[in-house]
Amino acid sequence: MGRFYITTPIYYVNDAPHVGHAYCTVNADAMARWHRLIGDETKFLTGTDEHGQKVADAAAKHDMSARDWTDRTSARFQEAWDALDISYDDFIRTTEPRHYESVQKFLTAIYENGYIYKDVYKGLYCVSCEDYFTPEASVGGNCPIHGRPLIEMEEENWFFRLSAFEDRLLEHYAEHPSFVTPETKRNEAYSFIKGGLRDISITRTSIAWGVPVPWDENHVFYVWYDALINYLTAIGYGRDDDEVAKWWPNSHHLIGKEIIRFHCVWWPAMCMAAGLEPVSHVQVHGWLLIGGQKLSKTMAAEGELRLSDIAPVMLTNLFGVDPIRYYLLRETSLGNDGEFSLEGITQRYNTDLANNLGNLVARVTAVVNSKCAGAGPAPRPDSALRADAERAIHETAEAWSDFAPQRALEATWGLIGATNAYLELHAPWKMEPGPEVDAVLGDALEAIRLVAILTTPAMPRVCEEIWRRIGLGGSPCESTFDQSATWGQYPGGVTVHRGDPLFPRIKSDA
Ligand code: MSP
Repeated sequence: MGRFYITTPIYYVNDAPHVGHAYCTVNADAMARWHRLIGDETKFLTGTDEHGQKVADAAAKHDMSARDWTDRTSARFQEAWDALDISYDDFIRTTEPRHYESVQKFLTAIYENGYIYKDVYKGLYCVSCEDYFTPEASVGGNCPIHGRPLIEMEEENWFFRLSAFEDRLLEHYAEHPSFVTPETKRNEAYSFIKGGLRDISITRTSIAWGVPVPWDENHVFYVWYDALINYLTAIGYGRDDDEVAKWWPNSHHLIGKEIIRFHCVWWPAMCMAAGLEPVSHVQVHGWLLIGGQKLSKTMAAEGELRLSDIAPVMLTNLFGVDPIRYYLLRETSLGNDGEFSLEGITQRYNTDLANNLGNLVARVTAVVNSKCAGAGPAPRPDSALRADAERAIHETAEAWSDFAPQRALEATWGLIGATNAYLELHAPWKMEPGPEVDAVLGDALEAIRLVAILTTPAMPRVCEEIWRRIGLGGSPCESTFDQSATWGQYPGGVTVHRGDPLFPRIKSDA
């Protein structure tokens, strides 16, 4: 049995969650569920990033104290994740006392190790990014990401000696070729380090909404600098060394592509400076786009996009939880950008879910009822479907373990397609009841049992329902994958239930 610690970025609470955040969280959730299924001891962390100028501005705009505002908005993220069946083990808020404690201990360790010093910082700042840009990186004085004017800032700050870690970071990348995946994103981070690192300012005096610097009470830590440490707070950094030792060597951060520099350059250097190994692995994903534009809360606030139209809860109300999870996992290969559209969801729903999976379960349960008096027959050890099933098991498992949900689902849907073709070929609905019908249906039921196991990280609810319909007790994730995902375990002689369509077709103009 292994261990698996997976994290999402912690989301800014300047506004409500949208489907872009759901994309990242659902992917992390499916991976956590996969690792639980294979028997790994798993910890899944998500949460909210509550300090910084952007959040303070949002609270002021709503005439609320920062604390009340963050309480309210953080709760909206939890509601969205509940609506999406997100199985997080811990939800961290950076305003919690445990986080203050870990941040202060971690940064004091860096300070005492001599990697923090005081200087004056002058630069161009984007409040939306909570980040400085060089004049060359700005686009006509505007932020290259948000297109908003950059502000001239001058502050006396504490600095982190990032430049001291160039060589050690390059060595780390050379020694750990899979530190950042996919490779294109790894190369991006590597070139950034190769291009030379400048020290970074890590404290602010201009705002009070942050974690106080323990050795200088006029300063709070810069929001990014406290935020990254959340991954350690949640495993007890500074409070429980055994927990850190247990989880940190098995840690995986899932992040969006615009925050590579923070996670793949700053963060490993910060860990090194504090005397800790860096996170084991960073998996980068692309963006969901609408008409080629990234969904962002900042754009919504400016009226450019109506993100309230694509709140995760609205989507689950419209299409159901599992179809939305499926769409987010299946549509785009993790690492690439993907176009989000309601038409796209409808199409995936009708094709993959209604026509392929839903139809398979419906026709098999119906024919078992009409030809076998509702008792599901056992599969044959030498079924022609067995090779398809074994290929799907192997490829699906490999893909989930490779952080490739799209590929995993494609492989599983290969088995659904093969089973539907097998049924077309034998047409049990045209046969007289008897051993031949039993054999074909037993094979199909076994394929469905396997599909329910393989798909459970993506669509946990539907898989439970399929399990029940084919007459099995417990749930598809009750036994570990190794024990349950082998051909021939469908017991036979159990009562198969017909039910309403699992995925009633949606008219494409819906
Ligand atoms: N608070 C920081 C992260 C700190 S982690 C120590 C932050 N927050 S965020 O709310 O702006 O974004 C969080 C994550 O959501 C990022 O990984 C980002 O890529 C992801 N997404 C936001 N919009 C997205 C899309 N439109 N598509 C896919 N993911 C997107 O950055």
